[in-house]
Amino acid sequence: MTAPLSFIHAFERGSDPAAAPVLLLHGTGGDENDLLPLGRAIAPRSALLSPRAKVLENGMPRFFRRLREGVFDEDDVRLRAGELADFVAEAQRAYQMSAPVAVGFSNGANIAAALLLLRPQALRAAILIRAMTPLQDPPPADLRGKRVLILSGAMDPIAPVDNAARLARTLRDAGADVEHETVPASHGLTGEDLRLSVAFFDQLHSQKSV
Ligand code: MLT
Repeated sequence: MTAPLSFIHAFERGSDPAAAPVLLLHGTGGDENDLLPLGRAIAPRSALLSPRAKVLENGMPRFFRRLREGVFDEDDVRLRAGELADFVAEAQRAYQMSAPVAVGFSNGANIAAALLLLRPQALRAAILIRAMTPLQDPPPADLRGKRVLILSGAMDPIAPVDNAARLARTLRDAGADVEHETVPASHGLTGEDLRLSVAFFDQLHSQKSV
């Protein structure tokens, strides 16, 4: 049963309380069910928390408004990142979870990047698949101790590799430990994204137990 929180969401309990919970953030037009199989594949024993984005673009849920493809309404990015961080805090209380690892795809990766820059305490770490820079001029953030994996597609016309490289630099400048990998793909998810995400998530855990 899901708790009545500020976002419609899916929640699956984990089988191992020591496994980091995962926050799944879908792409444009997705919903709370889209990434559950991906989350389970990356984190088989973790709790999965998956909100449905609230902004509608021609009926398609998104996590923030955009003015056109690749041009974001940054006031809305700030507002929505705040709402999402508040939801994560509510969910942590309702489901008794620690700060989650975000797994975001496309628009979901972009809001996860905004969470890191604006409300870093909401996340333990992040896997950003086909991400872009969500804010041109973000406020200073302290991301020391946060690990981030960015996965770009070499042929992606929507989230270009150089834009993601800029995001990687911004996060590194704020102190995050960032890996930026480019896979032979376009905007869609591939098996290579899954392989790299699983390896990153496993490493987070092995680090914790050291
Ligand atoms: C966005 O946030 O607009 C994404 O990068 C692209 C998309 O969601 O289609």
